[in-house]
Amino acid sequence: MSVSRIKLLPEGPEFSRLVLGFWRLVDPPALNPQQTLTLIETSLEEGITTFDEADIYGNYASEAMFGRALALQPALREKMEIITKCGIKLVSEERPDHLLKHYDTSREHIIGSAENSLKVMQTDRIDLLLIHRPDPLMDPDEIAEAFVRLKDQGKVLHFGVSNFTVRQFELLQSRLSFPLVTNQIEVSLLHQEPFLNGMLDYCLQHKIIPMAWSPFAGGKLFENKDTQQHVRLHNALQAVSNRHHQASVDQLALAWLYKHPARLIPIIGTNRPDRIKSAAQAESIQLSRQEWFELWTAARGQEVP
Ligand SMILES: NC(=O)c1ccc[n+]([C@@H]2O[C@H](COP(=O)([O-])OP(=O)(O)OC[C@H]3O[C@@H](n4cnc5c(N)ncnc54)[C@H](OP(=O)(O)O)[C@@H]3O)[C@@H](O)[C@H]2O)c1
Repeated sequence: MSVSRIKLLPEGPEFSRLVLGFWRLVDPPALNPQQTLTLIETSLEEGITTFDEADIYGNYASEAMFGRALALQPALREKMEIITKCGIKLVSEERPDHLLKHYDTSREHIIGSAENSLKVMQTDRIDLLLIHRPDPLMDPDEIAEAFVRLKDQGKVLHFGVSNFTVRQFELLQSRLSFPLVTNQIEVSLLHQEPFLNGMLDYCLQHKIIPMAWSPFAGGKLFENKDTQQHVRLHNALQAVSNRHHQASVDQLALAWLYKHPARLIPIIGTNRPDRIKSAAQAESIQLSRQEWFELWTAARGQEVP
């Protein structure tokens, strides 16, 4: 079964229901361009056509690695959608003028960052550009100016945000004549805050499709810890797996996210083709309402009130 597709707005863009993220692409041992291309090709074979980058990933090296992989097979660009982000400045030998880690959502930085992303990814357009983190000095009018400029020039097709609260999302949206298409937030069995802080309710209300980063809690879901939470969750996952043809932990964690009516798009972060193939099968698992709460309750350690 191929990963399905989802429209973020009635008139587009259309993304795959599962996204591959490249935060860890150049983590040691870093992949080379050919291995990166294999990850991309495996994803495309499974129906994962959307790839998530950020200017800062891999200490500013991930986008360039992705670009080098794409340069090996440039025709693949037409078969994929690229997301990238801007707005964080890291202290790095790659950016000697950054004296401390901080945020920058100035017009100049957003435009400069997006243009650099285009250059290093060796592409003529970004399908979706996100403001990576809410910035306490964020001026929504300035961000809007940068977005309009990039849109008018055809450099960025759509815009969104990441890690924003409902109020921050509304604030930026109030200055734009086009819709922000997503809020990319952390959601997983081990990070349930968006179910409780109103963000997913807001997305449902306004038909905004949210993206869920670190759906496996950055790999913590697979760790063999003997904390009470891990033992409870692993027992519950095993019980649910037994009812679903021994579905794996990654598949159940994704099936759990897919069940939410906000239609979350999970972004996985593996560098292994076999794990991409496994994750791509998760949509076929239909958890019952009771099973969803079985995992919720095990993760939280208490039954619902
Ligand atoms: N917007 C934001 O602020 C933000 C923040 C963080 C991340 N993100 C995005 O979300 C993406 C995913 O984040 P993430 O990497 O933390 O996601 P994740 O998928 O929750 O975790 C990935 C980690 O889990 C391991 N893993 C995956 N499948 C496994 C399996 N079946 N068994 C054991 N280990 C497994 C991976 O190792 P292997 O490589 O060895 O498989 C990797 O270390 C990032 O690449 C990035 O695009 C966005």
